[in-house]
Amino acid sequence: MIELQHVTKRYPDGTEAVKDLSFTAPTGQITALVGPSGCGKTTTLRMINRLIEPTEGTILLDGDDVTRQDKVALRRRIGYVIQSAGLMPHKRVLANITTVPRLMGVKKAECEARARELLDLVGLDQSFADRFPAQLSGGQSQRVGVARALAADPPFMLMDEPFSAVDPIVRQQLQQEFLALQKRVAKTIVLVTHDIAEALLLGDQIVVLGQAAAIEQQGTPYELLSNPANEFVSDFLGRSRGYQALGFEQAGDLPLQPGPVVRASDLGRADPRRWTLILDDGGRPAGWQRGTEHRAAIAAIRFPAESLRVCLDSALAGPSGLGVAVDADGVFRGTFRLGDVLAQAAFDSQPWEGPQ
Ligand SMILES: Nc1ncnc2c1ncn2[C@@H]1O[C@H](COP(=O)(O)OP(=O)(O)OP(=O)(O)O)[C@@H](O)[C@H]1O
Ligand SMILES: [Mg+2]
Repeated sequence: MIELQHVTKRYPDGTEAVKDLSFTAPTGQITALVGPSGCGKTTTLRMINRLIEPTEGTILLDGDDVTRQDKVALRRRIGYVIQSAGLMPHKRVLANITTVPRLMGVKKAECEARARELLDLVGLDQSFADRFPAQLSGGQSQRVGVARALAADPPFMLMDEPFSAVDPIVRQQLQQEFLALQKRVAKTIVLVTHDIAEALLLGDQIVVLGQAAAIEQQGTPYELLSNPANEFVSDFLGRSRGYQALGFEQAGDLPLQPGPVVRASDLGRADPRRWTLILDDGGRPAGWQRGTEHRAAIAAIRFPAESLRVCLDSALAGPSGLGVAVDADGVFRGTFRLGDVLAQAAFDSQPWEGPQ
C-alpha cells in the first residue's frame, strides 16, 4: 500500500505543482492518476520514489515513511517506467534489464536467466536480448522498459504515461498485455496518464486530478462513469474521444458470459452475496437479486448491439457493472462486463489536453 498524506510540492521558483494531496494506492491494485497536462502527475509520482522531495506531507510505503529510508534501497523496492522507456542507449537490451539486480549483487547468470524470462513475460522474442535500444520500435522499447522495472521483482511500480509514445494499435496491445501481466504479478501500481479512456481501462481505482493535483474525484471506473462528481469530471469523460467513439463503434467482438443467472423457480440457488439476474419462465430477464435485495429495472439490449454506447449504458444501469444482452424475442443471451466495453472503446482514445 502506498499512502500520501497532505503532500505539497513547491518548486524553488514558487510553482505549487502539488497542493495538499492525500490518497491511498491499495496493495496489488492499479491506481490510475489522470488529469490534464501540468496538473502535477509526474511530480506526484517522483515524490513517491524520492526523485523529488516533498515540501510538506508524508508518504508511506506499507506504513514506512519514505524519507526515513535509504534512497537506493527505496528505489529497489519501486519499479519505475517512464514514457520514453529511458533505456541506456549504449547497453544492449539484456544489460538494460539486468542493471538493477546486478547492482544489488545478484549473480550475472542468475540475472540473465531472469531477464530472459522477463522478455517472454513482456512478449519479446529472445533475439531482442542482444539489440541496442536504437534498434527497437517504440512499442518494443516500452516492453523492455516494463521488463527492466520488473527485473528486481519490486512490490511497487510507478508508471508515467507508459503507453503514450506509441501508436493507438500498439498502445491497445500493450495495455491488454499489461493487464494480463498484472493479473500474474499483482504489483501495487500507481500509473499516470492524461488519457481518461486509458485510466478507465487500466485502473482498479482512478484519481482524477485538477490544478495543483487537487482531487476532483476518486473511485472505480464504474463510479466515475455512472456518477461523475462534478462538471470537471463529466467534461473530462465527455471530451475523451475514446468515450465518444462508443457512440459509433459496433459491439462486434464483445464477449458474452453465461451468467450469473438463475430461473425465478430456482431462486434459492442464487449466491446471496452477489447480484444475479433472474429469468422468467420464458427465459427473459425479470430483475436483479442479491440476498433479499431486488431491482426490477434491467437495461437489457438486443444483441448484436447497434453501438458500444448502448452496451455502456446497459452495463452502467445494472447494479454490478454487468450489461444484459437479449435476442430479438427478449430472451437472455448473456451478460457482458463494463471493462470489456471500455477495452474496445480505448482503441480510439486520444490524449485529452485539458478543459477548453
Ligand atoms: N523543476 C521544476 N521547477 C519549477 N516548476 C516545475 C518543475 N517541474 C515541473 N514544474 C511545474 O509543475 C507543474 C506540474 O508539473 P508536472 O510535470 O508534475 O505535470 P504533469 O501533470 O506530469 O504534466 P504532463 O501531463 O504534461 O506530463 C507544472 O506547472 C510544471 O511546469
Ligand atoms: Mg508528466
